[in-house]
Amino acid sequence: MENLQTQGIGLPRLGLGTFRMQGDACRAAVESALALGYRHIDTAEMYANEEPIGAAIAASRLARKDLHVTTKVWHENLAADAIRRAFDASLKKLRLDHVDLYLVHWPSRHMDLPAIFETLLKLKQEGRIRAIGVANFTLALLKRAVEEIKAPIACNQIEYHVMLDQTKIRQYLAAKSIPLVAYCPLAQGRAASDETLMAIGRKHGISAAQVALKWLLDQDGVAAIPKASRAESQKANLDALKVKLDDQDRKAIAALPKDKRFVNPGFAPDWD
Ligand SMILES: NC(=O)c1ccc[n+]([C@@H]2O[C@H](COP(=O)([O-])OP(=O)(O)OC[C@H]3O[C@@H](n4cnc5c(N)ncnc54)[C@H](OP(=O)(O)O)[C@@H]3O)[C@@H](O)[C@H]2O)c1
Repeated sequence: MENLQTQGIGLPRLGLGTFRMQGDACRAAVESALALGYRHIDTAEMYANEEPIGAAIAASRLARKDLHVTTKVWHENLAADAIRRAFDASLKKLRLDHVDLYLVHWPSRHMDLPAIFETLLKLKQEGRIRAIGVANFTLALLKRAVEEIKAPIACNQIEYHVMLDQTKIRQYLAAKSIPLVAYCPLAQGRAASDETLMAIGRKHGISAAQVALKWLLDQDGVAAIPKASRAESQKANLDALKVKLDDQDRKAIAALPKDKRFVNPGFAPDWD
């Protein structure tokens, strides 16, 4: 699979999202995805599923260098000692000696951003994180991280799909050669029943979900992490990489309303 090169790591463009997967079902889903060829797994301490993911990775017997694992620190744990505690716990549950990407999961109003990056970079120097990154950072916060603090962030993971415009952040990230990792790339499953996408899918003999994913993956510097529990959906999402959309398809998708944000917890700074 094609990788996005960023801050010394190769980030596979399609990963498996795991939010709301738990216990044995999570383990089975990750085992299935790894068997199908997924090499990028997205988790977080908040998902409470790092243990079954660790078990699935161990069972896969994949060489560590062939697998990309992202996990995240929750916004309540952004003090230096709390980050370290959270990180140690994540690593132990994942049964790994390092993660490929460690993200600030959500910004919080009272966070000390320079101190956060200092702690993350120490973990990187210790060889326990290959690259650091952020999620849910607004344009203003991104500018602070990149231009003021000069943090070597390897991605911004944000909600992005056919129903939400992210042009401003995408253009900023592209100008700085920082990948955008699209979460909720299927609009939490809604894309699968969108009439416009279904019509495009019928034309090509593919599903609406595949259309939605390929629209994202056709954009430079964009990776996507759809969550799929069922093996058929996991396979279909991998196969979306082979889909070819034409200008007419792109025009129809561009014309869809793009004002639907499905994730926005109250504690985060306002989006600009
Ligand atoms: N950084 C953050 O703050 C943040 C926030 C939200 C999400 N995320 C990450 O992004 C990942 C993806 O987001 P998400 O899980 O919210 O939403 P999503 O990936 O947009 O949609 C997931 C839904 O789509 C369904 N689906 C998957 N493939 C399909 C296919 N080929 N055809 C039809 N339906 C399909 C899934 O069904 P089944 O599961 O039943 O197969 C599930 O109901 C999360 O799992 C998480 O890793 C990060």
